[in-house]
Amino acid sequence: MKNLKSKTHAKPRYTKQTIKRVFSYIGRYPFLLTLVVIGILLSAASSIVGTVLLEPAINKFIGPLIGAENPDLSGLITLLLVMGSAYFVGVIGAFMYSRIMVVISTKTMTAIRNELFEKMEKLPIKYFDTHTHGDLMSRYTNDTDTLREMISNGLPQLITSVLTIVGVFIAMVIMSPILTVILVCMLFLMIFIVAKLGSKSGKYFIKQQDSLGKVNGYIEEYIAGQKVVKVFCHEDKVKNNFDEINDTLCVNSTKAHTIANILMPILGNISYLNYAITAIVGGVLTIYGFMSIGAIGSFLVFTRTFSNPIMQLSQQFNAFLVALAGAERIFDMIDQEPEKDEGYVTLVNAVIDDKGNISESDKPTGKWAWKHPHGDGTLTYTELKGDVRFVDATFGYEPDKIVLKNISLYAEPGQKIAFVGSTGAGKTTITNLINRFYDIPDGKIRYDGININKIKKPDLRRSLAMVLQDTHLFSGTVKDNIRYGKLDATDEQIYEAAKVANAHQFISRLPDGYDTYLSADGANLSQGQRQLIAIARAAVANPPVLILDEATSSIDTRTEALIEKGMDALMKGKTVFVIAHRLSTVRNSDAIMVLEHGEIIERGSHEELIKLKGKYYQLYTGMFELS
Ligand SMILES: Nc1ncnc2c1ncn2[C@@H]1O[C@H](COP(=O)(O)OP(=O)(O)OP(=O)(O)O)[C@@H](O)[C@H]1O
Ligand SMILES: [Mg+2]
Repeated sequence: MKNLKSKTHAKPRYTKQTIKRVFSYIGRYPFLLTLVVIGILLSAASSIVGTVLLEPAINKFIGPLIGAENPDLSGLITLLLVMGSAYFVGVIGAFMYSRIMVVISTKTMTAIRNELFEKMEKLPIKYFDTHTHGDLMSRYTNDTDTLREMISNGLPQLITSVLTIVGVFIAMVIMSPILTVILVCMLFLMIFIVAKLGSKSGKYFIKQQDSLGKVNGYIEEYIAGQKVVKVFCHEDKVKNNFDEINDTLCVNSTKAHTIANILMPILGNISYLNYAITAIVGGVLTIYGFMSIGAIGSFLVFTRTFSNPIMQLSQQFNAFLVALAGAERIFDMIDQEPEKDEGYVTLVNAVIDDKGNISESDKPTGKWAWKHPHGDGTLTYTELKGDVRFVDATFGYEPDKIVLKNISLYAEPGQKIAFVGSTGAGKTTITNLINRFYDIPDGKIRYDGININKIKKPDLRRSLAMVLQDTHLFSGTVKDNIRYGKLDATDEQIYEAAKVANAHQFISRLPDGYDTYLSADGANLSQGQRQLIAIARAAVANPPVLILDEATSSIDTRTEALIEKGMDALMKGKTVFVIAHRLSTVRNSDAIMVLEHGEIIERGSHEELIKLKGKYYQLYTGMFELS
């Protein structure tokens, strides 16, 4: 089923701009487009020429031949050959433009998808906070698909139809103005009916898409939540709810298609009526000598040629609306403001001499420095050490909802700083600020003495390794997943990192060891094993600052102790931030910050905090009482 999720405004709002923009994409292929226009012109012209030739065929050849004793067919045959050739050229033209349109539309879609993905990679985390995955997905799938359909089929059909209608109309006016009047009357009737019924069915098409979106969303959610459904035995309830929204979809679909479907026979009948009236009036005109038989023959064929494109256009009307709405959603995402990065301090390979002078190197030296250009054109280098300071930092995801209040802290290279505190206290938020997932005003966070807002984001993030609270593994081998931390890591470095993370043993026992393929976020691993791989991934990056957000929450305490040993060796002289609910994890930290409602309420070493007999003491002794 197509994913039509979140099509909340299936009616395009900025039609003109959107059409213009779609054309700007198609316009990238001028040569192919020229061929398309030639093909369309040939195809439209051939049907008109073929029909126009019907008049002399009847008047000059077929008429005089009726009842003739020695009929000379040569003239007729020549004319038929000309007609045949005209139609043949038309077929070639149609074949050519439809084939080329497929190429143009698929190329355009590839470009749009690339642009979308490129934009997605640049969007701030906030955008993903405020849009559901299904909504973003549907821009790549459903929205591009409806747009492709419109470019590939709808557009050439629209142009052909308009050309045919105009061409045929001119030919008809020249041939018989009186009969054209009948046609115009019928045309108005058709337009009136299309407008009336079309707008009604349009409304139901939008409803149908909304319902389809809901069905899709529901299915998506319950596939992910299957286990929870089963745990609480909600299968029947879930099924009933599904039936309900599925029925709504059925009702809306039926209404949309019923109206759309009766439109076609109604228009068909009007066009037959038109045909009959034209034939009768034409017959009368012929009898009284106002028209030739050939002309009436041609004219009748024209009435058919004229009504066909109108019927096709009426059929396409809704598809156009849907496609434009899709295009609008795509452009909306492409136009989103990308993540801002005004940083200009970069991370470079450094050579540090005995006197502590730092110079830049273009080869890896194992040492890094911040390259800081100044307004007066001078450059200074600061060694990357991993010194992090917060000065009175206040932050809220929403401006009116403060999450962190007046946070001040420092972490010096070689120190292990821990954050503890209740759920929702703001621990993860602090780490989100260090790597600038979210920004706070100037000067509040300093890294090696530099305001982090001045540091280019990719360089800042390269200097930090994070094990996020939600572990995410990509489809690929175990080795690929660890290598994600440092793309040019050798196999030996990967094994080494896995050993530090204490993941080596379990990986070796997997069917294909490091080459075992992990699918769907590592579904074939245990939660703890996934965390071990995530830790190995951070270890292979070997950065000066490491942030572990509940990195060992699903790992048994013995394994955790082993990881800690490995990590301590790895992080010697570097800065580590640890967040953990399990207080044994943070016991040996240099400083422990206790957070409560976004504020640091206590700080100190484990012993100091125990002596203080405050919140930490409660948490710690509480834990002991529980265990
Ligand atoms: N993306 C977000 N958008 C809006 N509010 C958020 C967002 N993430 C977290 N919050 C809010 O910020 C507060 C702090 O969340 P945070 O994730 O920092 O807590 P935490 O201390 O890490 O908790 P836990 O121990 O459960 O991991 C919470 O009240 C939460 O509701
Ligand atoms: Mg958290």
